[in-house]
Amino acid sequence: MFPILAKDQLADTVFSVRVKAEEVARRARAGQFVILRLDETGERFPLTLCDWSPDEGWIRLVLQVVGRSTRKLSLMEEGDDILDLVGPLGRPTEICDYGHVVCVGGGVGIAAILPICRSLREAGNRVTGIIGARSADLLILEEEMGEVTDELVLTTDDGSRGIKGRVTWALEERLKAEKVDLVIAIGPAIMMKFASAVTAEYDVPTKVSLNSIMLDGTGMCGTCRCEVEGKTRFACVDGPEFDGHAVDWNLLLSRLDQYKEEEEVARRLPI
Ligand SMILES: Cc1cc2nc3c(=O)[nH]c(=O)nc-3n(C[C@H](O)[C@H](O)[C@H](O)COP(=O)(O)OP(=O)(O)OC[C@H]3O[C@@H](n4cnc5c(N)ncnc54)[C@H](O)[C@@H]3O)c2cc1C
Ligand code: FES
Repeated sequence: MFPILAKDQLADTVFSVRVKAEEVARRARAGQFVILRLDETGERFPLTLCDWSPDEGWIRLVLQVVGRSTRKLSLMEEGDDILDLVGPLGRPTEICDYGHVVCVGGGVGIAAILPICRSLREAGNRVTGIIGARSADLLILEEEMGEVTDELVLTTDDGSRGIKGRVTWALEERLKAEKVDLVIAIGPAIMMKFASAVTAEYDVPTKVSLNSIMLDGTGMCGTCRCEVEGKTRFACVDGPEFDGHAVDWNLLLSRLDQYKEEEEVARRLPI
């Protein structure tokens, strides 16, 4: 059992939970994730490690409510127990002194980019953060991102906070203005696709974290398969980070869409 130590609401549908998980906290590294099963009837689902304390034995997860499991977790309270929590899973982000790194976070992807910014900065990089959301009330972790970046650019689609526009626009402005050695982009698949298209034009190496549908998280079931450089890869064990210029984005987007269609059919079936 993994007890919830604290829970906060960060935005309308976004919550942060601190969970006691000593083993995971001891081995966690930026870019990794865990797979949870809330109770005996629950499905397994992945969430990225946003923060952790090896000394105090806790991990922090940030979740956006999109369906059954994320809703159930958002309704759990301090003192409740999570039945299963496996991790840390996936390959950690490769942390080196690259020089100037621009880290782009969209929506709940900001939670995943946060520990990466921290680790990159500790390794001596100059880190520019660009974070965005549809509107100001959905923009999360602004203060924490300010603490782990040298400069933080904010964007909202409706202009209610920061620059009016998309993170990809702010990214392109930065690439036009100065030398960038690496871009890391995490957020909705469509955002990562367009961020990769922008950086390809400026020939800047780009890493993305793929949010494929996952089941076992151990490379056995094949649910998370994606295509990178024309080869089949499993996001859970080969990733989740890949070269954004080598990902087959149309395949990834169609697999995510297919899942939505199947869900819609299942909803209409008489049980
Ligand atoms: C490696 C990895 C790390 C992730 N980290 C986070 C995180 O830190 N915070 C967070 O909020 N979410 C994260 N996700 C997405 C999260 O796992 C899904 O939102 C969750 O599984 C949905 O479960 P559900 O039962 O609530 O919804 P479901 O009922 O399973 O699905 C509801 C809707 O959500 C969409 N959905 C389901 N799974 C995914 C997915 N993997 N990617 C995109 N859309 C999906 C479906 O299209 C569906 O329409 C991550 C996904 C991966 C693969
Ligand atoms: S989730 Fe099953 S192989 Fe990746």
